[in-house]
Amino acid sequence: MKRFRPYRISQEIRDQYADVQIEISDFIYPYFVTEGENVKQAIPSMSGIYRFSIDELLRDMEELTVVGIDKVLLFGVIDDASKDERGSAGFSPENIISRTVKAIKARFPQTLVFTDVCLCEYTSHGHCGLLHNHDVDNDSTLPLLAEMAYQHALAGADFVAPSAMMDGQVEAIRQRLDQEGLSTKILAYSAKYASAFYGPFRDAAGSAPSFGDRKTYQMDFRTKNQGLEEIAADVEEGADWIMVKPAMSYLDMLYRASQQFADYPLVAYQVSGEYSMLKNGAAQGFFNEERIFFESLTAIKRAGANYIISYYAKDFARL
Ligand code: PBG
Repeated sequence: MKRFRPYRISQEIRDQYADVQIEISDFIYPYFVTEGENVKQAIPSMSGIYRFSIDELLRDMEELTVVGIDKVLLFGVIDDASKDERGSAGFSPENIISRTVKAIKARFPQTLVFTDVCLCEYTSHGHCGLLHNHDVDNDSTLPLLAEMAYQHALAGADFVAPSAMMDGQVEAIRQRLDQEGLSTKILAYSAKYASAFYGPFRDAAGSAPSFGDRKTYQMDFRTKNQGLEEIAADVEEGADWIMVKPAMSYLDMLYRASQQFADYPLVAYQVSGEYSMLKNGAAQGFFNEERIFFESLTAIKRAGANYIISYYAKDFARL
C-alpha cells in the first residue's frame, strides 16, 4: 500500500506539496468603460461588476493597485444612438477606449493596459465585423480592426487584444502597427469558442447580436484540433501572447496549448458566465464563494495558463 495521507495531514504540509500557486501578477482585471462622469452602474447579470465612467474607473483602480493587480483589460460600452453599421465610434480618434488608456497611463503608469479590439460593442447590429448580405464579411472588417488597434496603440495601450475572430486579424493589426512604427504587443484571442457562457457579458456591454449568432466566426466547441490550428495561425501572423476562451470548460484546450506553444505566454479567460455561475451559486448558499473561486482559478493555472483574465481577480487579491 502506498500511503498518501501523510501529504495531507495539516495545512502546512499540504501547502508544502502544492504544485500550483496563483500569484497576484497572474491576473488581468477586466473593466467596462462608459461615457459620462460619476457613473458607477451595477451590471445586473454580473454581481459585483460595474460600468464605470473614466473618472470612477480611476477611482476604482486605486483599490486595484492597493491589492497589487497591475494589468487591466478594457471594454467600451456606448449607447445605441452612438452606434452605426461600421462601428465608427470604436475607431474614431476620440473613441472611449483611447481616452481611457490615456487617463490610466497618466495616473497609473506602471499598469499594463490591454484593450479589446472588436466591432460588436460599437455596431448597431452587434456583430463583431462588417455585414454584407446579412453575414459578417471577413476581409472588409480587417482594416477597421487594424484602425481600432492603431488608435488604442497610439493612446498608449501596451497590448491590443483582437477578439473578433476574423481570419487574418492579427496579421492586419501587426502590419498596421509596423507601418506606424508602434511596438505595441498583440494578445490574440486565438481559440475563442462560440459559447453560451458569454451571455452575461453581452448584457454588460450591450453587444448582443441583433440577429443570428456568432457561430460563423467564433469556434465550434465540438472541434478538437482546430483550436491549436487557430493558435498556430495567430503565432505565425505575429501574436505575442495567445488565449483560450472560455476557461473552465476548456481546460483540455488550455493544457494542449500550453504544451504545444510553451514559448508563448498563455492567457485563459474566465468569462462572464463562468464568473456569474460561481458568484450566484455562492450567493444562494450552494458553495463557499472564496473556496469555489480558489479551486476554479487554481484548475485554470494547473491546466497551463500563465495569466488569467477574471472578474473575480480584485476580490481574490483582496483575500
Ligand atoms: C467581444 C468579446 C466578448 C467577450 C469578450 N470580448 C463577447 C462575445 O464574443 O460575444 C466575452 C467575455 C465574457 O463573457 O466575459 N468583443
